[in-house]
Amino acid sequence: MISNPTSGPSSSEGHGIGPWGLSLSGVGIALPEKILANSDLTAWMDTSDEWIRERTGIAERRIGGSTSGLATEAARQAIEDADVPVDSIEQVILATTSPDHICPGTAPAVARELGLQCGAFDVQAACSGWVYGLVVANGLLLQGMNRVLVIGAESLDRITDYHDRGTGILFGNGAGAAIVDRDETGAGRLLSWDMGSNGNYVHILYAEHGDVLKMDGREVFRQAVTVMQTSATNSLKRAGLTVDDIDLIIPHQANIRIVEAAWKKLGFSMEKTEMVLEHTGNTSAASIPLALQSALDKGRIQPGTNVLFLGFGAGMTWASAIVRWA
Ligand code: ACO
Repeated sequence: MISNPTSGPSSSEGHGIGPWGLSLSGVGIALPEKILANSDLTAWMDTSDEWIRERTGIAERRIGGSTSGLATEAARQAIEDADVPVDSIEQVILATTSPDHICPGTAPAVARELGLQCGAFDVQAACSGWVYGLVVANGLLLQGMNRVLVIGAESLDRITDYHDRGTGILFGNGAGAAIVDRDETGAGRLLSWDMGSNGNYVHILYAEHGDVLKMDGREVFRQAVTVMQTSATNSLKRAGLTVDDIDLIIPHQANIRIVEAAWKKLGFSMEKTEMVLEHTGNTSAASIPLALQSALDKGRIQPGTNVLFLGFGAGMTWASAIVRWA
């Protein structure tokens, strides 16, 4: 496990991290137009809308578009939302499991579309990727940068077999982006974070070159509940907060039953949880910023709101971060 670097690489008590803070000053999303509903899947798959809804919480997912295209659209919206000049962005971080190419990364193409020549790299940490990106962005701000663009974008339809009952019911495309700014006032802040991985579980969810995702759904379910519990507990502890201090939880949107099972163990309530899964399916690295946009649209986030982001994914990887909203 990686611990917070307040006093060196082995510290595990880090929170606050630096005299200034962080502000997510603009957010944007993109979803392709084409909807693949559960009822569409029943045309070629032995399943039902009722079964998929009951076992996953998903009614439909989006397909089409490219990772770079969706990422660029979400980024443009985030830039507009933040109302900042494009050329003030100093770094592009793109979390994705479904890059346009194996090589090069997709982030430079997105930067090009935005008219940028700043640093640009991909993060491949599956569904935890956007939270990994947020923590890395915080590190870059601590190194002196002022503005980082953190995107989660996927075109999972390229690596999903929509005839497979285990995976075809879950995955969809989408993107979400945030402008992450240094907040000199320190009002907004990354209060704590936790990142980890367990490579012993690489085999439970993977895609080989040129192939589709293969998954042991039951094992992913089991591991996901465990790592969400561990990671959320670590971040709470490092921030010196309790469950009651968290105003809003934005989990990775994989399966409503995974969230419910983890929440039962953690003592979290679904009322404090933002879910968009029903209409997006599992969009991997895009799912948390997609839900973030939804929470902002509903006015669920105000200055001072403590937001817990909680991701897990193939690897297994996991990541959580508690942000006090600027
Ligand atoms: N439609 C109808 N019946 C189905 C389907 C389906 N799509 N899939 C399986 N079944 C049947 C099985 O044949 C089985 O029938 P049987 O009891 O007669 O043998 C029964 O339903 C139960 O099958 P399970 O595979 O045990 O179903 P489960 O309840 O585990 O649900 C699911 C499967 C939804 C995939 C679940 O395991 C799951 O969500 N796991 C986590 C997956 C996940 O979140 N992955 C991504 C996380 S990480 C990331 O996002 C990259």
